[in-house]
Amino acid sequence: MDLSREEEKLLESDNPAVAKCMEILVALGEIFGADRLIPIVSAHISGISYENIGEEGLEWLKSLKAKVKVKTTVNPAGMDSERWREMGIDEDFARKQTEVLKALVDLGAELTLTCTPYYVYKPNFGDHLAWAESSAVVYANSVLGAMTNRESGISALASAIIGKTPRYGLHVKENRAPTVLVKVKEDLNPSALGVVLGRELDGIPIFEFGRKLRDHELKQLGASLASTGNVAIFHVIGQTPEWRDFEIPKEKLEVDEADVRDECDPDLIALGCPHLSSEEIMEVLRFVERRGRPKISVWIFTSRHVYEEMKEVVEKLERCGIKVFRDTCMVVSPATEKFECVMVDSGKALTYLPKLRGVKAMFGTTEECLRRAFE
Ligand code: F3S
Repeated sequence: MDLSREEEKLLESDNPAVAKCMEILVALGEIFGADRLIPIVSAHISGISYENIGEEGLEWLKSLKAKVKVKTTVNPAGMDSERWREMGIDEDFARKQTEVLKALVDLGAELTLTCTPYYVYKPNFGDHLAWAESSAVVYANSVLGAMTNRESGISALASAIIGKTPRYGLHVKENRAPTVLVKVKEDLNPSALGVVLGRELDGIPIFEFGRKLRDHELKQLGASLASTGNVAIFHVIGQTPEWRDFEIPKEKLEVDEADVRDECDPDLIALGCPHLSSEEIMEVLRFVERRGRPKISVWIFTSRHVYEEMKEVVEKLERCGIKVFRDTCMVVSPATEKFECVMVDSGKALTYLPKLRGVKAMFGTTEECLRRAFE
């Protein structure tokens, strides 16, 4: 990989954090055949729940004496920063999680604490980013036309501190071309479709749906695809911003069912994977108003940004017996472990809840989940 003189100097920087970050980016670039480093507009760091990062990760974060060079947002943590007691989080965990957040602030990161940083600030078409969090990556590439590889928490942090990323993979236009046309023959739920297809797909899909998908459906489709597969970009004919830039591939796949149902007896309904937008929160309110109290716990997750924007709606939801948590989610927080079976409308949560939280998960559409809560 070609490095400028200035970049070479960073490898020898007096600041060990800067030298280490530069080393990480060069190693990554060399593994993937990058030709050079390119400047990025923003970075998004994942893996910041104390549950995930642990003591070693926390000490490493605290040891970095550096500042980020670009706008840097962060993924959800292991708890709602204010209402962690209500989630059943213990004092020790809360103290450690707070230390992680402080270390991130010291580095200059913004405590957005969401996997939907694009609701906080929207990157432009063609912007180069270094984002971790697979659901945010696939949304940025596919729906916004920004350019990012699927970074790890560490490589995203290294890019944030250097302000650059190696140019390879999805930073190069021709690598974004679709390789398989997926004809969706029935009106399938995008979350379920993503889970099933992610397991089978090898390459970049371009979808032909019989209708226009709504924004949250594109978000769900991408999150699910990325949870079971290695998908970091998809296109939708007539809808996503780059679909016209490439030829339609000859390889074709037809899908007419996406069955992910596996029954258990839910004691928690959890919505908000990825974090809910303001419109989705409004839809939850429209559904639950005038239905009395839910018979099963209902937890919904969003960012602190959307939470603040929707304060009045959130208060109404809370009065209806729905808990609205921010800064965290049902998968990254250990709080979900006390439940037996969690019902979700998200393919990603369906995939990860059993693996990471050891609880059973069952799938339903958003409406089915909410209906179940009041049955
Ligand atoms: Fe976001 Fe947690 Fe799902 S980070 S994508 S809500 S697993």
